Amino acid sequence: MEVLKDRYHRIHNYLRISLTDKCNLRCSYCMPEQVQFMPSKKLMLADEIFKLAQLFVHEFGINKIRITGGEPLMRKDAVDIIEQLATLPAQLAITTNGVFLDKYWPLLESIQLSSINISLDTLDSNKFKQINKRDDFDRVYQNIEYALNQGFNVNINVVLQSGVNEEELLDFIELTKHQKVHVKFIEFMPFSGNDWDRSAVFTYQEALQIIQDEWGEVIPLESKPNTTSKPYQLPGFMGDFSFVSTVSSHFCGDCNRLRLTADGKLKNCLFGKTETDLLQALRHGEDLKSLIIQNVKMKHQTLGGLSKMDTTQFDPKELSTREMFAIGG
Ligand code: 5AD
Ligand code: SF4
Repeated sequence: MEVLKDRYHRIHNYLRISLTDKCNLRCSYCMPEQVQFMPSKKLMLADEIFKLAQLFVHEFGINKIRITGGEPLMRKDAVDIIEQLATLPAQLAITTNGVFLDKYWPLLESIQLSSINISLDTLDSNKFKQINKRDDFDRVYQNIEYALNQGFNVNINVVLQSGVNEEELLDFIELTKHQKVHVKFIEFMPFSGNDWDRSAVFTYQEALQIIQDEWGEVIPLESKPNTTSKPYQLPGFMGDFSFVSTVSSHFCGDCNRLRLTADGKLKNCLFGKTETDLLQALRHGEDLKSLIIQNVKMKHQTLGGLSKMDTTQFDPKELSTREMFAIGG
């Protein structure tokens, strides 16, 4: 077996696969109300997803796969795809907006999921309507509670934005008191078409200061290898929280991630422009292995070629070739 090592000696063993760019929500930081989604015939079919995943696992030692979107559970054949991926010798995880989870419990309870990441930016149903543009707060919240009661490893993803939901920071911390939940605060990141504004980024340093001012002692937890977040816990609390500080301080040093978009393009970085069309190569019987190795060798050291997220260095509107939902989180 070969390992996917890039020019900076980073070994890539984690693949994120987007099942679709479509989504039932319209989170303000992610997509506008009117969106042009990919035509269905451009998407990987279920068996193509499995073939590519199998190749990554068997030929390159990929040992973790995360299913992403858009909203992955919008795919009509999501059950088949997830069932197939679960047969591979790799950890399986999913990132979802949580709305449809209740339709999938029998499946998700029948396989081993290493974690379910559920997006939730507010604990207020009216605010949910403002940020996420649909009236699904209760359903998502109930699904989170169900997942926790069933013993799933649940991460709640919160995109913290100044002037939007920053005042809920301590309420989210409160959630970690009596529940074994992980709350992940994500800094607002720039992508094509998401109207990014540096002043709306609520940084991890600001957030941590507020938590410390309120609670005093904050215990830094040991971060797992290749982690993208800085974990902490409050003394005596059952859950914990962490920060994904892509904007204020990146964590590219030990990045182990690759991404496969729903239309079958391999991306070696969330912010990079390099894409390799694995789907067409698969359909034409080309040598996928060498294409994958080449793609990884082209990976930049940090942030797809930027040294940091500094708006004096780039125009956020031209940052990426794709929107976040078309890359797959
Ligand atoms: N900045 C930060 N996080 C984002 N997400 C989507 N768009 C952005 C953005 N611009 C989050 C979603 C989801 C995860 C996959 O990424 O909320 O939880
Ligand atoms: Fe990896 Fe690129 Fe994200 Fe850094 S910015 S963690 S290199 S995908």
